[in-house]
Amino acid sequence: MKGIILAGGLGTRMHPLTKITNKHLLPVYDKPMIYYPLQALVNAGIKDILIVTGGNYAGDFLRLLGNGQEFGLKHINYTYQEGEGGIAAALSLAEFFADKDKICVILGDNVIEKNIQKAVKTFEGQKEGAMIMVKEVPDPQRFGVPVLKGEKIVKIEEKPTSPQSPYAVTGIYLYDNRVFDIIKTLKPSGRGELEVTDVNNAYIEKGQLMWEVLDGWWTDAGTFESLLRASQLVAETGANKMG
Ligand code: G1P
Repeated sequence: MKGIILAGGLGTRMHPLTKITNKHLLPVYDKPMIYYPLQALVNAGIKDILIVTGGNYAGDFLRLLGNGQEFGLKHINYTYQEGEGGIAAALSLAEFFADKDKICVILGDNVIEKNIQKAVKTFEGQKEGAMIMVKEVPDPQRFGVPVLKGEKIVKIEEKPTSPQSPYAVTGIYLYDNRVFDIIKTLKPSGRGELEVTDVNNAYIEKGQLMWEVLDGWWTDAGTFESLLRASQLVAETGANKMG
């Protein structure tokens, strides 16, 4: 299994913090944000990792992380996204790197408490399809939200005004190689992006989307409020064990 961290975008929601740096390099308590998803992949046993970045400060990722020695890695792969285009557009840049392998994708602004190794192992044993991880949150309207029928997810709605469940789809996605064919069929959404939610809905239509409830706390850190909360959670309980 290969790991992909999506850390592009211009971070305009977080101006002026992101005027002179990339969002994923901002501090979350005592570490740059990107450390958390990177550590989460390493802790899950994934060593072959690609960081998709972009914008004006992409070079700073290399200066900060180098070959990932601090994380026990020998090498980190990097690629550059021109402009913005959504999560699925950023992911499409990883096709050459995935090279037909299964992938574990994590958004560069997602911070988790516990190890995701179990889910990664389960997915490794699965022949095909995709797996998402969901978490109960007080504000599901900020996220992708699953619509459930019994134990089955029948649809995911992106930032719905009336959420049909209390769950957020977290930014941790496990895909087989067909994800890249699915992305090629997508059309930009209302906000002009290729949506990861549309990728997941395509797997639902094939009857191939598995899901699990994520263990431990989860937060994004892509707004001022959630950035503060991420720092507080890390300071209080520690994230996915560092180093
Ligand atoms: C993105 C996805 C959303 C998901 C969230 C998790 O939202 O579109 O489905 O729940 O990440 O962090 P965005 O950060 O683009 O608002």
